[in-house]
Amino acid sequence: MSVHSSSLVRVLTLVGVLATFLLPATPADASAPLRTHAASRGKFIGAALATGPLSNETSYRNIAATELSQVTAENAMKWDATEPSQGQFNFSGADAIVNFATQNSQQVHGHTLVWHNQTPGWVQSLSATAMRTAMQNHISQVVGHYASNATVVSWDVVNEVFDDSGNLRTSFWYNTLGESYIADAFRAARAADPDARLCINDYNTEGINAKSTAIYNLVSSLRQQNVPVDCVGFQSHLAIQYGFPSDFQQNLQRFAALGVQVRITELDVRMQLPRDATKDATQATYYRNVVNACLAVTACAGVTIWGFTDKYSWVPDTFSGQGAALIYDENYQQKPSYTAVHDALAGGTTTDPTPPTTPGTPAASNVASSSATLTWTASTDSGGSGLAGYDVFREQGATDQQLGQSTTTSISLTGLSASTQYQVYVRARDGAGNLSANSALATFTTTAGGGGGGGCTAVGTVQSQWGNGYVVQPVAVTNTGTSAITGWTVTFTLPAGHTLSGSWNAAVTVSGQTVTAKNMGYNGNLAPNAGTTFGFQVSRPNGNTQTTSGYTCA
Ligand code: XIL
Repeated sequence: MSVHSSSLVRVLTLVGVLATFLLPATPADASAPLRTHAASRGKFIGAALATGPLSNETSYRNIAATELSQVTAENAMKWDATEPSQGQFNFSGADAIVNFATQNSQQVHGHTLVWHNQTPGWVQSLSATAMRTAMQNHISQVVGHYASNATVVSWDVVNEVFDDSGNLRTSFWYNTLGESYIADAFRAARAADPDARLCINDYNTEGINAKSTAIYNLVSSLRQQNVPVDCVGFQSHLAIQYGFPSDFQQNLQRFAALGVQVRITELDVRMQLPRDATKDATQATYYRNVVNACLAVTACAGVTIWGFTDKYSWVPDTFSGQGAALIYDENYQQKPSYTAVHDALAGGTTTDPTPPTTPGTPAASNVASSSATLTWTASTDSGGSGLAGYDVFREQGATDQQLGQSTTTSISLTGLSASTQYQVYVRARDGAGNLSANSALATFTTTAGGGGGGGCTAVGTVQSQWGNGYVVQPVAVTNTGTSAITGWTVTFTLPAGHTLSGSWNAAVTVSGQTVTAKNMGYNGNLAPNAGTTFGFQVSRPNGNTQTTSGYTCA
């Protein structure tokens, strides 16, 4: 009996679908969507979404749901949409985008609270006192609307406050209120949601120039005055005819050194129409360069593209004769720019498709109330890229908790809960990002200890390393107690000869080889089970492969 061709197709499709779910997504998995590769690099990949096609077009929705891990409302959270007349708030469009993001496990960046465009006339004609109150009320209502919604994680508090010469823009905000409106806006946002990450956003700031330096100086001075600026957004509306800003990465890095997160917020790369293959190829290199710059800077959280399909882009309406700025064409077909973003996130062209062998079952020793040592037999890697290290996980059902990483065949676990059974396993990683199968499980139970209802844990992960340095990000701090805490202190040990060269999201002091990291004003409050993260960078002697260890949290 012959198999009817359509049922054969169905069987093959089913095999394909199962393979998609069962195979671990690795950089070598060429068919994986952008968000899978971005996640494996610790970054988000996002796009601005418009409410119209989101409710009307299946292709638009499907691509947005599949490819993106982050979403920004292109217009729906702006003042003219959320408070068109004074005190009358409307969140219908904004909620539609946030709900879509929640359904698809995406994070939302709120855009934007205070801007000189798309702000209703009633705001612009207020007296100084009334305008300041209206601004604070707007921020309080809009940020407050999402303060308890875990999907909305960050906000552009002020947008485009500088002109291209690096002077404060003489907008109605500045003309009526003076420079203080900026600090007031950040303070109001922090008050409305203490957990949200608060950003300043602007364009033509990708390279090191007068405007980006003005933002740099403002952010530095605001933070010295304890004004809560956590993040800087680089819009990145680029055009192939103007050249690529070659110091983009260097610029991101200097902001990172201020202790802020950086992010690419509105990336597009326009061209003079009509499109052709040469322009597409140039555009693809711009996209690749931007993604690589973000990947190279630890403090860069991710890349948001300003839309994804050329069918819906602000470019043709804004820059006459220009367009085709995005990664899908008008018919939702992927362009060379899509491939460039994909391959950059996947770590360039993969030449090693072979994962390492499975490591041996870990053996637990030195089991105490909050610590234990695991040791296992090494994996080997024959694919060419070489063994890069091991990831250690706690088996927990759907999403296993990563307990740590090691470049040797053992790890010291700290910050464990007392009198608790742990089932743990190890997997190996090679230089191309291929992952081995998981080892068999080892089970151990920590001994009874003090602790009581309080306590916190800290787990540090080496995000990247090179000959004479490495970045530990995130250090995940979790309140494991049964009551809320208002501050935390993490300590860990620097191997001999290692020195701290930077840190973010924690106040860090070093004494001998012991590093003490305390919470900042904005990330000390943790409810039971809640967590936050910080990170740091270390210099070490060339050739040394050790990393920091012995994390404790109190
Ligand atoms: C643009 C939108 O894409 C358009 O739909 C709208 O008509 C105007 O605003 N910088 C920003 C964005 O911060 O909010 C702008 O978005 C593009 C420039």
